[in-house]
Amino acid sequence: MMATARVRAMAEGDVESVAAIEREAFTTPWQADTFRRLLGRPSAVPLVLELPEAGVVGYAMLWCIVDQGEIANIAIHAEWRGKSLGAFLLDQVIEVAREAGVRGLFLEVRQSNDIAARLYASRGFVEVGRRRDYYDAPREDARVLEKRI
Ligand SMILES: CC(C)(COP(=O)(O)OP(=O)(O)OC[C@H]1O[C@@H](n2cnc3c(N)ncnc32)[C@H](O)[C@@H]1OP(=O)(O)O)[C@@H](O)C(=O)NCCC(=O)NCCS
Repeated sequence: MMATARVRAMAEGDVESVAAIEREAFTTPWQADTFRRLLGRPSAVPLVLELPEAGVVGYAMLWCIVDQGEIANIAIHAEWRGKSLGAFLLDQVIEVAREAGVRGLFLEVRQSNDIAARLYASRGFVEVGRRRDYYDAPREDARVLEKRI
């Protein structure tokens, strides 16, 4: 299955699937229209992870501004987690960022999100700061992580 997983640019036709994954994954999800708007923005790099047997099962939103990048969002459909797809998608995002000239790749993660934290640590992200009460529902600090690429 992993051999056939593919990461490609998000298209208009992917937005409903992406928004459905987003709603399930996050308590304060972005709306479909937010994803739609970002499709046309030069600094945004919206990506999806697609499987031939299941279609779009994950996505990531990357910002690239000169030599800094930020992973704004990344999620895998709940039924497809724990199968190394998140790691595969993250590796592709890192590669896309590197090719775009990014040298410092940042992201925020909820303090309690141990699964995501483990994934980022395995890819060499390190904590460079915290943002107090960054998240709502529930209110929680963000850890700011960076990977030099
Ligand atoms: C975080 C997320 C993208 C990871 O995707 P995934 O496909 O489930 O992760 P993978 O199967 O590729 O696993 C990657 C690593 O994550 C960690 N991990 C995954 N599932 C785990 C679990 N159930 N328990 C503990 N660690 C786990 C492990 O370190 C794993 O590496 P390993 O397999 O070498 O041990 C996914 O869980 C998700 O969509 N979560 C909800 C949204 C979210 O929290 N996004 C991140 C916001 S910052």
